Amino acid sequence: MLMLLRKMVEIYFSDIENVNRYTYKELKIATEGFSPANKIGEGGFGSVYKGKLRNDTLAAIKVLSAESRQGVKEFLTEIKVISSIEHENLVKLYGCCVEGNHRILVYEYHENNSLAQTLLGGGHSSIQFSWDVRRNICIGVARGLAFLHDVVQPHIIHRDIKASNILLDKSLQPKISDFGLAKLIAANLTHISTLVAGTAGYLAPEYAIRSQVTRKSDVYSFGVLLLEIVSGKCNTNRRLPVGERYLLANAWDLYEKGETESLVDVFLDGEFDVEEAIRFCKIGLLCTQDSLQLRPSMSEVLDMLIGETDVNEEKMAKPGLVFEIIEAKERRKQKGTAEVENASSSLVGSGRQDDSSLSGIADSFATMTFTSIYDRSN
Ligand SMILES: Nc1ncnc2c1ncn2[C@@H]1O[C@H](COP(=O)(O)OP(=O)(O)O)[C@@H](O)[C@H]1O
Ligand SMILES: [Mg+2]
Repeated sequence: MLMLLRKMVEIYFSDIENVNRYTYKELKIATEGFSPANKIGEGGFGSVYKGKLRNDTLAAIKVLSAESRQGVKEFLTEIKVISSIEHENLVKLYGCCVEGNHRILVYEYHENNSLAQTLLGGGHSSIQFSWDVRRNICIGVARGLAFLHDVVQPHIIHRDIKASNILLDKSLQPKISDFGLAKLIAANLTHISTLVAGTAGYLAPEYAIRSQVTRKSDVYSFGVLLLEIVSGKCNTNRRLPVGERYLLANAWDLYEKGETESLVDVFLDGEFDVEEAIRFCKIGLLCTQDSLQLRPSMSEVLDMLIGETDVNEEKMAKPGLVFEIIEAKERRKQKGTAEVENASSSLVGSGRQDDSSLSGIADSFATMTFTSIYDRSN
């Protein structure tokens, strides 16, 4: 029996022996017993600890949660792909630990934390996000994504581009983290964890509603991130009245009024290249259009950001706003209820009829009937 098991393990690992492996014991020592003092974050996939490896290198050690487990072979095959990818704007995956039930990823550590905690963290950071720094971050993230989408073969869709996945190194160079991670866990869990983690504001409508994942859903998320970096605001602010809650909706309103410039972060105190900042906002809007065919590819986005090609606004349409659909439905429901209370049945009827085109979408989003996520080549 034991022999058979050994043989199976041998076959399993034969083609993935190049993956850098850590023992559980080694990582336990590196994190001082996964002590709470070394915990630097908690995300949809598990907890992250800061640790010091044997060679004194600092690492971010991500302990995947129980639900994210998959077969050892599938896990290692994915790890092999991810750890072989190197780019100056991508966080390096050093290796992993697969022992018993443990699934742990070991990443390069970046001391300046993520954009979520710094730029969007409510003034708790000492980093000065000047326009030059922001421009550099936007372009770096676009470079990293264009590399994953258009250079790596077969291409990698990130699926979870958001401010907390953009880390900053010592010199404030952006590093995209967690690419490929979504593939390590069950497809529907990715979707759920993204929503549970409260990052639904980055989801392209077709991803949120139909679980349709393409490179263009990453482009949408990048567009949201771009607007966040320029404005210094989170994509959603629930403390604001409904009409002002969504950055993307505000950006579109300002664009339509010809007031895009006022979207730029007031903390810059006017110290920015106006033309460039407006161009970045327009690119953000181009990336978030409802129709994925209208969204540019990441390589095209990069060319527009660096001013290599012009931004074509001719056919620019209103962004696809998932929450607008849901809130419209909620409002109608509430209105419907109030009207029932007023015994005004005829109005309720017409209200519901108006709602019919949206209700299917919003219902499927609200009840989250998670169909499998599939990749497509566009
Ligand atoms: N390589 C890393 N270097 C430094 N900090 C990291 C690294 N990876 C993750 N973190 C920190 O841990 C937090 C949790 O990460 P993660 O589990 O990926 O969840 P999320 O991306 O949803 O925040 C991040 O927000 C970040 O602050
Ligand atoms: Mg992350």
